[in-house]
Amino acid sequence: TTALSGKHLLVTAGGTRERLDPVRFLTNDSSGKMGYAVATAAQQAGADVTLITAPTKLPVPSGVTVVPIESTQELADAVLTRLPAADGLVMAAAVADFQPVTAADQKIKKTTDNDELVLRLKKTPDILQAVAANKRPDQVVVGFAAETQNLLENGRQKLTKKHLDLLAANDVSRADIGFNGDNNQVTFLFADGHSDQTPVTSKRAIATTLISHVAEIFNQK
Ligand code: C5P
Repeated sequence: TTALSGKHLLVTAGGTRERLDPVRFLTNDSSGKMGYAVATAAQQAGADVTLITAPTKLPVPSGVTVVPIESTQELADAVLTRLPAADGLVMAAAVADFQPVTAADQKIKKTTDNDELVLRLKKTPDILQAVAANKRPDQVVVGFAAETQNLLENGRQKLTKKHLDLLAANDVSRADIGFNGDNNQVTFLFADGHSDQTPVTSKRAIATTLISHVAEIFNQK
């Protein structure tokens, strides 16, 4: 289809990695499947897609420009430098909430006197918050929210706080959907207050629905 032809979309995917030392990092369970499905659906809808991705096991979607990143800071830099030239952003990446205060230059060693190791972490930059401060009214920004409780209430708060046009709220307390599987169920929360729950279905189908919502939002701008 051509619903998004002429639009340049940034899509982020995967779980960011926060380095502790040259051989170790903190990360999360994100597989990147949801973000890759969104990038593919956007490309198939005619968009010019840049996929900014943390490491995943997934093949690169065809026809998409890939920008590899590892850390949240690298993701923030990659998104914010490309945002002015983009029409929209879908933040499907599972961004680390905390990063080590310092990354060790050399491998952290165990010694006879360190039975405990204390890691000092600090908050990562909130990319969508920074995007909200810089975005133009013509740009469409979509977030994801993985929640284990009060899905709609927490989702609504994130939508408002991060000035999103659309938020896909995801209940990750369920074993059959979310993080690693091929299926998902989301509730789309729109800026005008209405919402729309998908059935449990493939991430590909959810991505297609998300992209049709993005096309509608562009049409309303
Ligand atoms: O982590 P949280 O549930 O707040 O994530 C909601 C949305 O914000 C997601 O789209 C995620 O990619 C984005 N996010 C971000 N920067 C962070 C944390 C999350 O842009 N530091």
